[in-house]
Amino acid sequence: MKVRGKPYRTIWPAADGWAVEIIDQTRLPFEFATLRLETLADAADAIKTMRVRGAPLIGATAAYGMALAMHADPSDGNLSAAAKALKVTRPTAVNLRWAVDDVTAHLKGLSPNARAGTAYERAGEICDDDVAICSAIGDHGLKLIEAAWQKKKKRGRVNVLTHCNAGWLATVDWGTALAPVYKAFDAGIPVHVWVDETRPRNQGAALTAWELIEHGVLCITGTDRTTASGDVANKIGTYLKALAARDNKVPFYVALPGPSIDWSLTDGRDIPIEERGAEEVTRMTGRTRAGEVVAVEVTPEGAAARNPGFDVTPARLISGLITERGVCKASKAGLAKLFPEKT
Ligand code: MRU
Repeated sequence: MKVRGKPYRTIWPAADGWAVEIIDQTRLPFEFATLRLETLADAADAIKTMRVRGAPLIGATAAYGMALAMHADPSDGNLSAAAKALKVTRPTAVNLRWAVDDVTAHLKGLSPNARAGTAYERAGEICDDDVAICSAIGDHGLKLIEAAWQKKKKRGRVNVLTHCNAGWLATVDWGTALAPVYKAFDAGIPVHVWVDETRPRNQGAALTAWELIEHGVLCITGTDRTTASGDVANKIGTYLKALAARDNKVPFYVALPGPSIDWSLTDGRDIPIEERGAEEVTRMTGRTRAGEVVAVEVTPEGAAARNPGFDVTPARLISGLITERGVCKASKAGLAKLFPEKT
């Protein structure tokens, strides 16, 4: 996708061929800045501090983290230490474990001096695959938006509600939930996106959902981990959107790449939910009129806060899953039909 007219991915190999560059998402929207990752610790820190975030991009960064580790020390000991260090950075997005295990499997049988080259190659493939997968999700999701456009007799616009960020910044390119929106935009369909905030008060669910039925909205979100039976972990607040959508008869879709499916789980309650620092809730960051970016306290001194990053939406509330292989029911049978080799 483009930033100021220039095409970008969210992660790419640096010109020197061994370091890795990312867009530092903690500086957005106030500043567009890129950051160079040179070590395993840099990659792990970028994931943990959410300089990169979004399940597919977390996986891609972890794959490059393995390559940076092998560049420094390709021994057996460092291979397992690197995998361990990356896996504990964030617990919910299953793409992290998937990417680390994938790269490890490619490296295990190799002699140490062949490992770094193969790790970079595999990380590059994981990135390219993610772009192709998200583009395919976009093509399948586009059909839903086209159908909504036909239903409106091509009048007005198609409204899409999404939650959190499942756009290109959450992936290597295109996004999951937003890929169909970008494709629809490119196809000349007028699309309007309701962009939910994800703060604890959830005005999006309470107020925006009330408006949805007036506008014929479609909900599309992303996911950090989906079980084999179609339960979906995504940014906290997603469950409320799904309940509101059901009550207002608004279709609720989840867009996901294959690596976001955890085939070992069949019950969403077994998905580990990340607990982040309380200060993310008790403080807000913004830009003053003088242009300074500052954090301010929004709770009384000493107030305690819990900050779970995700919640789980049960499959029964989901109208369909948009994958790179097509759209299916959020159920064991639906997913098994599209991914027969996994069952
Ligand atoms: O905590 P984040 O910002 O990593 O959470 C991101 C989300 O919840 C996204 O909706 C999800 O990862 C899907 S991204 C394609």
